[in-house]
This record gives sequence, C-alpha cells and structure tokens, in this order.
Amino acid sequence: MAILAIDQGTSSTKAIVVEGDEVLAVAERRVRPEYRPGGVVEQDPEALWQSVLTSGRDAVAKAGATIEAVSLANQGETVLAWDRSTGEPLTPALVWQDRQSEPVCAGLTDHADLIHERTGLLLDPYFSAPKMTWLRREVTRHGVVTTSDTWLVHRLTGEFVTDTSTASRSLILDLARVDWDPELLELFGLGDEELPTLVPSDAIVGTTSAFGGDIPVGGLIVDQQAALLAEGCIQPGTAKCTYGTGAFLLANRGSDPSPHPGGLATSVAWTVRGDTTYCADGQVYTAASAVRWMSDLGLIDSAAELDTIAAEDSGGVLCSPAFAGLAAPWWRSDVGASLHGMSLSTGRGEIVRAVLEGIAAHVAEMIDLGDAPERLRVDGGLTRSATLMQAQADLSQVPVDVFGSEHATALGAVATARLALDDSLSLDDALVGWSPARTYEPRWTAAQAAGFRARWRAAVESGLTGKD
Ligand code: G3P
Repeated sequence: MAILAIDQGTSSTKAIVVEGDEVLAVAERRVRPEYRPGGVVEQDPEALWQSVLTSGRDAVAKAGATIEAVSLANQGETVLAWDRSTGEPLTPALVWQDRQSEPVCAGLTDHADLIHERTGLLLDPYFSAPKMTWLRREVTRHGVVTTSDTWLVHRLTGEFVTDTSTASRSLILDLARVDWDPELLELFGLGDEELPTLVPSDAIVGTTSAFGGDIPVGGLIVDQQAALLAEGCIQPGTAKCTYGTGAFLLANRGSDPSPHPGGLATSVAWTVRGDTTYCADGQVYTAASAVRWMSDLGLIDSAAELDTIAAEDSGGVLCSPAFAGLAAPWWRSDVGASLHGMSLSTGRGEIVRAVLEGIAAHVAEMIDLGDAPERLRVDGGLTRSATLMQAQADLSQVPVDVFGSEHATALGAVATARLALDDSLSLDDALVGWSPARTYEPRWTAAQAAGFRARWRAAVESGLTGKD
C-alpha cells in the first residue's frame, strides 16, 4: 500500500511516496520564510499551498504507484486567518519563530502558572494561541484563525480539523483531557472563535482529488512528533533530536501529561488507538537558521562547508544561538543570540565552531533536564555536519545515532497514515524499519563536558540579567 506523506516544514515542503520499507519517490520545494526586524517571521500561505501541491504531484508522478492515502506533517505553531467559505487567506502565516505576539504573553504573566499547569506549555510567543490573539487584535476580525495544518487540510478536503498533537502546541488545550479549554480561550480573548474539530493521528478525515483520483487524507501530526515516531521512540524515556530550521529535542513520556519538572514543555506526541501518548520537548529555535545567518554574513557559503571551515577549537569563544529568543528551560523570548570571549585572533573558523557547539550545548542542557536517554537518535539536515554531531555526543555524553533516512518526519506521517488505514496495525507494525546511518561516541571525558557546559551556561545566563 503506497502512502503519499507530505512534510510541510518551515524551510521546505517535502513529499515522499512509500511502499513497505521502500521510499519510491521524493520531491521537495523550498519555502523560505521572510525575516524582518521586530521579530517578524512570516510566510506566504499561497506559497505553502503551492509547495504542497507541486511536491505532492511530483512525488506521485515519479513513484507511478497507486496512492492509498495522503498524510500531512505540519510546522506545529504556524498560524493564519482565512475565510472558511472561500479558503482564501486573510493574513500572512505567522511562523512559529515569529515574536510579534510577545505583548500578548506579557499581558498574561499573572496566569502563567495556571497556563503551565493546564497545558504543559510555558507562556511564550512560540506557541500558537498568542499568535491567534495577536492576529485578532492587530490584523483582522474576519474569518477563522487556525494553525496552518487546518487550512491546508481544508483546501485538500473541505474539512475543518486539527489533530491533537498540533492542538497541544497552542496554550489553549487542556492536556490531560485533550480538549480545548474554555477558561484559557477566554484568557487569550479567543472565547468566540470557531475552533477546528480535534481528531486523533490515526484518523482519516476526508478525501482529496489534488493528487489524482479520490484519495483518503489522514494521519495528521506535528512534524517533530512525526520524527519521534519514525525514529521508534515509542517507549517512555526514548528521545530524538531533529536538527532542522531549529533543533527540537523530544522525549517520550508515555501516558504522563503532568508539567515537566525540569522546565521542558509537555505536549501530545500522538493519539492513536484511543490512547494519548505525551512527550517532553525542548527547543533551540535557530539551528539551520543560525547556519543561514552565518552564510548571509559570508562566514560560510553553505551548510556543506561547516566541517571544513569550523576550527579545531573555538579558542574560548562561546555562542548562545538564540537568534529568535531563548527557549527551554529559560523561556526568555526577549533574549537574543550572543558570542562571548572573542579576541583579535578570533576568525570565522572559531565562530563557526562556537555556533555549532552552542547548538549542541543547548540540546545537552535539555537532555539533562529529562530522564537521561541511553542513546540519542537524531535526524535533519544538520546531522550531515560531523562537527555538530561529535559535539553533541561529547557534550551530552551519550552515543548519537543518526537516523538511517533523510526523511524522518515524512516517514512518521507514513506510519500514522498506515494506522489510519488499517485498524489491526500496532504502532510498531506501522513503522518503516531503519538502522543508524552513523553513530558518534563521546570522545570527551565527563569532566571536559561538565567544564564546557558550566562555562557555556554562565555565558548564556550572563545575558539574562537586567532584562526582566
Ligand atoms: O515547532 C516548530 C517545528 O516543528 C518546525 O520544524 O522542521 O519546520 O523546522 P521544521
């Protein structure tokens, strides 16, 4: 049974067709967001839609197989307003990295504890509800305001739905009940909004003729959660990190929806077979975005050069790569990126290494806040950098297994689509088999790692004072 899985991400839309364990075809379209001063990060919704259509159609044409279902993995917290009767966008899509809704969060700090307790999330403009409120206050009262998955699925099928994992990234979902929360909706000024129906990730929600024939659409899930599933992190305590536009660490928490004791966010991983599984997640908001910044500055031509340009040692330079705010466990959207300890001998090689080590150090901090996994599974474009992966193994002191395919997120959406099509499958049965492409063992001693991490943490925390 061939599945068309579409991974609608921040920097690209990737479509793959999979049958059994074989990827029959891949097609990809770039969707570069627009970055503007004032924390503005926006995308043209029509460009997102076109990228879904053209990548999907290309993949289907290349595969030449009968498609049994179309599934969609989405960016999680990207929001737009749109007209439900015409499907026309009324605003740009505010990307999850967008910071314009900071004042919305600032106005709700008195309720931060309640919001955390109820949703598992921290009050931060990263999540979708502050963006929904900001669009309502500042841009339009018309239409519906939803995450991008709901709009894309509406264009494909005419249905008005979102899956529980996407809803859990909002700050308006009661995480334990897995339902919209009326009290939080009122707090965000969203009490009168028409909200999409919540569906599990193993549901078929409608059909589409966008890719030829009438094909069932289902298996909806957030991209990070899809990668968690694809990498086989289905037991509590197993964890993965995806190094894409940002770096996202997710650890399976089984059936535990309680707020994370270490300051990570807690979300729905997936609802399948009537049960909801939860995950802890921590974020470096800018990973490939930080690499893009270095290339825009002319420090490197492209990510392919990272390993050749990075110096053997950063010469004491430390980087907090918080170009779009500092996430877990600090949750300071007002804090920016920084480079510490530069001297006149600091060159681009030292800066490139410091940025890569900064990404790895932040991920290592977040790993230590959870139940330390025995190994870390990793995927995403930046796993091609051996410098970054070795730094990750050194700083987190666990072996790092690089996922055996470049399509982890889309393969997770293949698994959810299979679960939606066939009730008899277990989670395990639905997964595409894999073995690590490469493994990085820690080379640093525990003392070396601890020393670096203490210096890095002190550098990050020196940037927090005086900003409250
Ligand atoms: O939370 C945002 C994240 O899910 C986006 O992922 O792959 O588009 O960088 P990606």
